Amino acid sequence: MDLELTETQAMVQKTARDFATRVVAPQAAETDATERFPRAAMKGLAELGLMAVNVPPEVGGSGAGVVATALAIQEIARACASTAVMMSVNNMVGEAIARFGTDAQKQQHCPRLASGEYPTGCFALSEPDAGSDPGGMRTTARRDGADWVLDGAKQWITGGSYAGVYIVWARTAGPETGAKGISCFLVEGGAKGLKVGRPEDKMGIRGSDTVPLEFDGVRVPATALLGQENGGFKIAMMALDGGRIGISSQALGIARAALAESAAYAKERRTFDVPIAQHQAIQWKLADMQTSVDAAHLLSMRAAWLKEHGKPFSREASMAKLFASEAAVRVCNEAVQIHGGFGYVREFAAERHLRDARVTMIYEGTSEIQRVVIARSVLA
Ligand code: CAA
Repeated sequence: MDLELTETQAMVQKTARDFATRVVAPQAAETDATERFPRAAMKGLAELGLMAVNVPPEVGGSGAGVVATALAIQEIARACASTAVMMSVNNMVGEAIARFGTDAQKQQHCPRLASGEYPTGCFALSEPDAGSDPGGMRTTARRDGADWVLDGAKQWITGGSYAGVYIVWARTAGPETGAKGISCFLVEGGAKGLKVGRPEDKMGIRGSDTVPLEFDGVRVPATALLGQENGGFKIAMMALDGGRIGISSQALGIARAALAESAAYAKERRTFDVPIAQHQAIQWKLADMQTSVDAAHLLSMRAAWLKEHGKPFSREASMAKLFASEAAVRVCNEAVQIHGGFGYVREFAAERHLRDARVTMIYEGTSEIQRVVIARSVLA
């Protein structure tokens, strides 16, 4: 693995960093407090080519690759984790359509996902009773003439109130077929029979929209099938392998912010006549935080590099996501401790970082699911 960034990767990183500092960071606390969809930030990201970084230019993407995608998400997450998760999901949806879609599907959706014409793209896999085990999903799609008709419910759908397109997984064969009887469909935002529920009242990433969806006889044409009939589960798994690099990047960005703010605070805040940075108790915390951040960075970059070079990366993506998310929670928890009482109030961002980091251990596969993926690969 080459850790030296290419010119393109360095440019994407700088572009994301500048935008994060100038536009995203100043709005982050308000986005969290008001739970408002960060529309301007999302649009700005699209204008900079950061909403479809690894999508080929022929269908409107930036074509800058996987490592560049990860770097961009890290930079945005450092400023605002809510914006970063929607950016990560949008990139994942664009990549999935670009990889598995027909020419017509790609031409219809990818340019709109890339340009911000769609405020977001959504990944509708989880259900109220099927999160870690999507093979147990109950949403169905049945053939009716030339169409498919979808019925069922989805849950925890990031950006679901604003989607231009949803990738929706549904059962196209009996429940006994498990993962082998699932297909995926492209459903346009505002489709008849699609009801978007009330946004969840979440602990963190409060500026990102998370909603349940109901499908009541949603009719889509045969051309809305993404990939092969009954081949949808593998598309979900392959997309999630990439998505997990995105979430590890998000976790890393949050942890970096918490560490940088802690170091700055430790140099300012005085106790016993000296800045607390001079106390070994604080220095050891900062040392452990930096070590965790760097280890998470290396794991994430390795997974991204493998994916970029067309090599197997599923296990490495799970390792990156597992480690980075758990490291981020530890780092953010220590950041609160270093800030003392100020870490527990909204005047400082430390408490937001901890609330934001926590979900990275849950979505796109819990830490327990990442361990399942890793252990299966170790034992294979
Ligand atoms: N790539 C390609 N194919 C894969 C694969 C991968 N990474 N993982 C599994 N498959 C294939 C298998 O080879 C198998 O195919 P065959 O039948 O042809 O052999 C098929 O898929 C079924 O695989 P498994 O038997 O391993 O499936 P399983 O039911 O045991 O599940 C699991 C495996 C890893 C636990 C999977 O269910 C999983 O990842 N669960 C977590 C789901 C998840 O991450 N949800 C997140 C929701 S999205 C989200 O959070 C987005 C957001 O909004 C932020």
